[in-house]
Amino acid sequence: MICRLSDGPRALTPCSIVIFGASGDLTARKLIPALYHLHGEQLLPEPLRVIGFARREKTDESWRRELREALEQFSRTRPVDAGQWGTFASNLHYCRGDLTEAAAYQRLARQLEGFGEAALGRNILFYLAVSPSQFGAVVEHLQRVGLLERDPPMPAWQRVVVEKPFGHDLTSARRLNAELTRFAHEQQIFRIDHYLGKETVQNILMFRFSNAIFEQLWSRQAVDHVQITVSERPGVGGRGGYYEEAGALRDMVQNHLLQVLALVTMEPPVTLESESIRDEKVKLLKSIRPIPPEAVGRHVVRGQYAPSQVEGQPLPGYRQEAKVAPDSDVETYVALRLFIDNWRWSGVPFYLRTGKHLPLSASEVRVQFRPTPHVLFAARCGETLDANALTLRLQPNEGISLRFNGKVPGTSVAVRPVRMHFSYDSEFGAYTPEAYERLLLEALAGDATLFIRRDEVEAAWSIVDSIRAGWAGQALTEAEFYPAGSWGPAGADRLLAAGGHQWRNPQPAS
Ligand SMILES: NC(=O)c1ccc[n+]([C@@H]2O[C@H](COP(=O)([O-])OP(=O)(O)OC[C@H]3O[C@@H](n4cnc5c(N)ncnc54)[C@H](OP(=O)(O)O)[C@@H]3O)[C@@H](O)[C@H]2O)c1
Repeated sequence: MICRLSDGPRALTPCSIVIFGASGDLTARKLIPALYHLHGEQLLPEPLRVIGFARREKTDESWRRELREALEQFSRTRPVDAGQWGTFASNLHYCRGDLTEAAAYQRLARQLEGFGEAALGRNILFYLAVSPSQFGAVVEHLQRVGLLERDPPMPAWQRVVVEKPFGHDLTSARRLNAELTRFAHEQQIFRIDHYLGKETVQNILMFRFSNAIFEQLWSRQAVDHVQITVSERPGVGGRGGYYEEAGALRDMVQNHLLQVLALVTMEPPVTLESESIRDEKVKLLKSIRPIPPEAVGRHVVRGQYAPSQVEGQPLPGYRQEAKVAPDSDVETYVALRLFIDNWRWSGVPFYLRTGKHLPLSASEVRVQFRPTPHVLFAARCGETLDANALTLRLQPNEGISLRFNGKVPGTSVAVRPVRMHFSYDSEFGAYTPEAYERLLLEALAGDATLFIRRDEVEAAWSIVDSIRAGWAGQALTEAEFYPAGSWGPAGADRLLAAGGHQWRNPQPAS
């Protein structure tokens, strides 16, 4: 029995996608491969045109050639289907220009008009794959040339998709929001957090609100604490320059980890409409107890990876990476304890951690239930009787596991944890669309559920800003360095030990 909430793909209206930053990494690595796959699955509207906008000299032909080469490298399916690529690529066009130059937008407008079909010139998705400092200029020029209207006459629509980082603190995020909303309604702005495009992240709400047995347990009555881990095996590699400006707290916690936390802990929305869901997420983010700067040392642990050896291979420390200052105090690891001050979660600690150069790349949420009363088996086993836990594995090895205790067969009386295990791959077969495929489709359909609303961004920044204020001017201490390839600084273990807890590390994919 399948309960269908939608009847297959939605009918999408013919439109154009204009990608600012057409010669950049994001376009080649994510956007074009995602559109190519959507085209192959016949999920894109008909007709659809894509215009790439950037300064570099290119023709339609040379841009298509470059994208094809990139696709060979980045496509999730290989080999690239020459027929599919051919029909898709015939809709790719290039517009050369500087995004500060008014004349370039007139050329863009003429190109859209030249498609000869009215819908292609008035239904437009503007994808801003450029630096956030350029967002304001782009929307202003688009509005001036008449391509972006706040209230386009029905049925026309124009939407603006923007990428993270969405500001570097609350003040800059507010400024960015103000710049964008001068020329577009909030409903026209789609802020991407690609984490929300992942099937497993979307499944958090399905899992919670379509299963009565778990939702009954989803509160302080039954939950002891929750651990959210997003670990990355690689170091910063070639992205040292970017990372020096960001750090783990801004790069991961402000967006991905707080979004996952919100989905795991929010109240049921009134409806499945995007605004209802986003209302609940904002309510949750606002009920996270702020960590004042003077209390940061008690609730937050930061770290930076130091040189080490793993399996005989030397790994550089963060300070030795390219484009990183040799005395950098930027954190490549952060662990924090948060409390949610609402009726459901009062007193339950939420431990979030993320870091680079950890032993493996994995994202998971572990809901640790309260132990049994100290009688019967618990009285005899003490600490060795494991409490139940539910793990939502977001990646890799996507699935859900429930740990409970079972009798070890035999004449002796022994109990040990066993796992009940659901795996996406074995249940549904390998189906791993890239997050960008889903997100592009939602943006084309005008459904904002998987995008971040203005007040969500601002609520998340205020949590993060207060922590940063606590670190301001404080150099890293010796104890905050962790060997590359380890699970982070010892302080992170003490953070949990203070509450009688310990980290449960994600397990390698079996
Ligand atoms: N790459 C990723 O996986 C990723 C992931 C998440 C978020 N993001 C964000 O997405 C944005 C783009 O990232 P990216 O990695 O693709 O950057 P990138 O490789 O540096 O590309 C930047 C693009 O912007 C264009 N550009 C810059 N200044 C311009 C101007 N004045 N006029 C016209 N075009 C201009 C560049 O084209 P020309 O040089 O040809 O003009 C280039 O196509 C950034 O904000 C980044 O933080 C990227």
